Amino acid sequence: MNALHTTADILDIEKIRADFPILQTKVNGRPLVYFDNAASSQKPWKVIKAIEDYYTKLNSNVHRGVHHLSQKATDAFEASRRKVAAFINAAHDYEVIFTRGTTESINLVAHSFGKRFVNEGDVVIISALEHHSNIVPWQMLCEDRGAKLKVIPINEKGELNIEAFRELLDDTVKIVSVNYVSNSLGTINPVKEIISLARYNDIPVMLDVAQAVQHMPIDVQELDVDFAAFSSHKMYGPTGIGVLYGKESWLNKMPPYQGGGEMIKTVTFDKTVYNELPFKFEAGTPHIEAVICLSAAIDYINEIGLDNIARYEHELLVYATEQLSMIEGIRFIGTADNKASVVSFNLDGIHAYDVGVILDQLGIAVRTGHHCTQPLMDIFCIPGTVRASFAFYNTKEEIDALVEGVKRASRMLR
Ligand code: ALA
Repeated sequence: MNALHTTADILDIEKIRADFPILQTKVNGRPLVYFDNAASSQKPWKVIKAIEDYYTKLNSNVHRGVHHLSQKATDAFEASRRKVAAFINAAHDYEVIFTRGTTESINLVAHSFGKRFVNEGDVVIISALEHHSNIVPWQMLCEDRGAKLKVIPINEKGELNIEAFRELLDDTVKIVSVNYVSNSLGTINPVKEIISLARYNDIPVMLDVAQAVQHMPIDVQELDVDFAAFSSHKMYGPTGIGVLYGKESWLNKMPPYQGGGEMIKTVTFDKTVYNELPFKFEAGTPHIEAVICLSAAIDYINEIGLDNIARYEHELLVYATEQLSMIEGIRFIGTADNKASVVSFNLDGIHAYDVGVILDQLGIAVRTGHHCTQPLMDIFCIPGTVRASFAFYNTKEEIDALVEGVKRASRMLR
């Protein structure tokens, strides 16, 4: 099958691949096949150039200096905030808080919302599909406050049981925090239904959209979600920067997460008056370069178009699932009807790690292990999986190489 031909009507893959210099890398003398996009995506020239431009033309601290460079850096920093707000259709720029990543965004809400709104006997709901970063901060909060963590169960396909969720909802529930897309299985959760059920019970919802925002359009107003968290490095931007979206009405009621410079209006030894949004939640010098260059990543995604990305990646998912399913002894983990471009599997009697090592020898990068979702692996009674996660720069020819590699691993390890 000629991937470039069959997909020519959606995306010009050859042109796109030329935008990502790392894709020219050879691993063990073979072309790199990069299928670890759910862990971190590669960066286009546009982002790499933006980083160089930042350090050669703008580098300075923000919101502090009257001098030329500081003002230029501040303008670019705030322009990036506006770009992020537009990308997720936030009602206000100041509802976009820059953090170190999804993990810090969730910790911020667990800590700050939790301190103000969660008390003894209250309940926090998460799901069985969560990454450790959307489990542990809530566990820590519940332990601290004497609250209880409840978990929405899943079926054998890795889909949430919405009826069971409905039954968990009562006035002890203070917040629901679930992912939009499972990083391990690729399940796309029915978040509109989850939000509307929670809303009916006056319960706020936090969405971990770290595995969704690069694959499909996210409109926080249309979703009517209260909080959303994501990371730049999974959406073709720099590492070390993430976003917390929060509705103004909640953010205004929540205490700061960390104290320091930037988050204050006035300080005396007796008392501090906190700054307004978004700065109240941005203590210390931020990761200026990464914030500014995230803007270049968003421009790049917008040029290709998230609808095109979603359609093409779905083609890759369908093709990979079909081709891999022909391998004897393969077991897919996560077979939801609605999936993003993630394929998780095991080979009968073979450890995922061993498959990963053989694929690496062939230049194919996958992730193996529990994918920071140990409780989910426990439900499937497995220690982990081999996970191939696709981006719009991947091709069907690369999937053919994966299939050949998995067949070879199966022959060698049996
Ligand atoms: N959360 C990232 C992954 O799923 C690191 O691989």
